[in-house]
Amino acid sequence: MRLTQSQFEPVAITPTFWIVPSWHEVPASARQVIRLDPGLAFGTGTHPTTRMCLRWLATQHTQAQPADLNRVLDYGCGSGGYLLPLARLVGGYAEIIALDVHPLALRRIRRIAAAHGLANAKTIQSDCATGLPNGCIDVVLLYDVFHGLAEPEAVLKDLHRVLRPGGILSFSDHYMRERDILARVSASGRFRHVARGRKTYTFARED
Ligand SMILES: C[S@@+](CC[C@H](N)C(=O)[O-])C[C@H]1O[C@@H](n2cnc3c(N)ncnc32)[C@H](O)[C@@H]1O
Repeated sequence: MRLTQSQFEPVAITPTFWIVPSWHEVPASARQVIRLDPGLAFGTGTHPTTRMCLRWLATQHTQAQPADLNRVLDYGCGSGGYLLPLARLVGGYAEIIALDVHPLALRRIRRIAAAHGLANAKTIQSDCATGLPNGCIDVVLLYDVFHGLAEPEAVLKDLHRVLRPGGILSFSDHYMRERDILARVSASGRFRHVARGRKTYTFARED
């Protein structure tokens, strides 16, 4: 289904960070803007969970120095709802790795990356192991994926392996209750819960 332009309005992620459809005027308060054509880039930041996750990302961006953010892994990236916001937030210096089990999701990611000239976006097809080197990732996004994983413990183990010491796992899953999220992600001792947003849970990698 192709949605009409009237269904997409500018979305404030923070008071100064906006996602604005390409045919809209940029709001005066916007300091950081992502221009999107939602017909191409599925996932416009309009879903409440997505908005909360983007808000968390925007906060990280303002806190992190470029040297702290070299590589971000979006595990279970889906159709690329976070790709353009991530690219805008991390700039050209950090690599964005989008992983999904579904080849069509990754094809979509590559199309969006090509259309927007994102040379720093890579894709991995997998249902569990990332195949990445130890400690090469600064931030992992695990959004709305965990509830459906066949091997959740194995995925958490591999995410712990690829995160650098002090690396961050940003978690959201609107199919799960908060107490289950906190218990299951922390259970193995690999991750420590450090902060909560309205829909996001931040875990630090334990050594
Ligand atoms: C509900 S979508 C969430 C997409 C995206 N993270 C978001 O929040 O918009 C779940 C995604 O996880 C992917 N997925 C499911 N099981 C997976 C697995 N074992 N490994 C990697 N990706 C998986 C699905 O193909 C789908 O794209």
